[in-house]
Amino acid sequence: MDVFSSPAFDQHEQVNFFYHRDSGLKAIIALHDTTLGPALGGCRMWPYASEADAITDVLRLSKGMTFKAAMADLPYGGGKTVIIGDPRTDKSAALFRALGRAIDTLGGRYYTGEDVGTGPTDMDWAHEETPYVLGSTRGGGSGDPSPVTARGVWLGIRAAVAHKLQRSDLAGVRVAIQGLGHVGYNLARLLAQDGARLIVADIDQARVERAADELAAKVVDVDAVLSTACEVLAPCALGGVLNDDTIPQLGCQIVAGAANNQLLEDRHGAALHARGILYAPDYVINAGGLINIALELQPGGYDRGRALAQVAAIGTTLAEVFERAAGAGLPTHEVADRIARERIAAGRQRQSRPALQAVPRRAAAAS
Ligand code: NAI
Repeated sequence: MDVFSSPAFDQHEQVNFFYHRDSGLKAIIALHDTTLGPALGGCRMWPYASEADAITDVLRLSKGMTFKAAMADLPYGGGKTVIIGDPRTDKSAALFRALGRAIDTLGGRYYTGEDVGTGPTDMDWAHEETPYVLGSTRGGGSGDPSPVTARGVWLGIRAAVAHKLQRSDLAGVRVAIQGLGHVGYNLARLLAQDGARLIVADIDQARVERAADELAAKVVDVDAVLSTACEVLAPCALGGVLNDDTIPQLGCQIVAGAANNQLLEDRHGAALHARGILYAPDYVINAGGLINIALELQPGGYDRGRALAQVAAIGTTLAEVFERAAGAGLPTHEVADRIARERIAAGRQRQSRPALQAVPRRAAAAS
């Protein structure tokens, strides 16, 4: 259970372990990089099979948040919390209050929010103990981020289709969506309005039936969606979906969806590139949720109209990634990582530059 030598460590600034005896809280809060500003990243609650799995997950997610914020041009860094526990049975007000106190000890270097396994009520409990919580229902909260995330993914799909297929619209373009949850269903609606032909799969039968009725989507089995012939595959369910088993089976020309950590490992980005499949790096295309929540910290506070307007930049950023990757003959995930690191390095340089010195009066007069 190494941390410093974990392959996912990637120069994290700070990794904190919190335990609270009375509530049973076991949480890990990882702060990857705060060069561009305080770290932002949600709180995931999951019954991890082992502590090593929880550590790997928090480190990978936290690093992803740093890159996500940098690519969305936000003045924030990346962090993440994982709580080891079952969200169906282990939640309590005391547990999330203890989490709030833990976050408070970080003194504003990290803000949390909801993620898989947590929701607004949990954030309200944490907020009772610390101001460093976003997405709480109390006072100017930003609410459900999914429609904003979906809009960013839709714009990203348009940018990918323009680059790969030289098409400026989606009429007749086949898009296979894996997962019709909060983001996936909103995305399906936007794509249907654009004339795309939808192919959908979800383990929840009611969701696919609704998409078939409302959006004329073609339903395929969850095991068949990755190999379905289509122009675009939009993973909107699970992480790690692009791996040694799935990549040879893919029936698409483009992968562009909302799920976090779609590449099981970085090398799978190169495998997609080798197959000629254009990959929209997940942390670029799914930044809408972060853009949405970050507005709570901006002067003037949260405004949904501003969130939707800021999300428009996702399409432009992805087009830049695609062009740079094509020019250099590199996989898109490598180019996105490179741009994110450049932005962070530029931020570090700005910070290390000595502040302008006031010119002493006499010297000024002499010159
Ligand atoms: P959700 O939990 O509302 O939806 C996930 C959907 O995937 C559910 O309908 C579920 O039944 C389905 N699903 C689960 N396993 C499946 C499988 N094997 N095959 C097909 N469908 C399956 O989650 P949400 O909020 O829509 O997020 C989707 C993904 O996007 C997640 O990976 C999340 O981390 C990521 N994401 C979400 C953001 C947001 O604003 N909600 C922001 C950024 C990323």
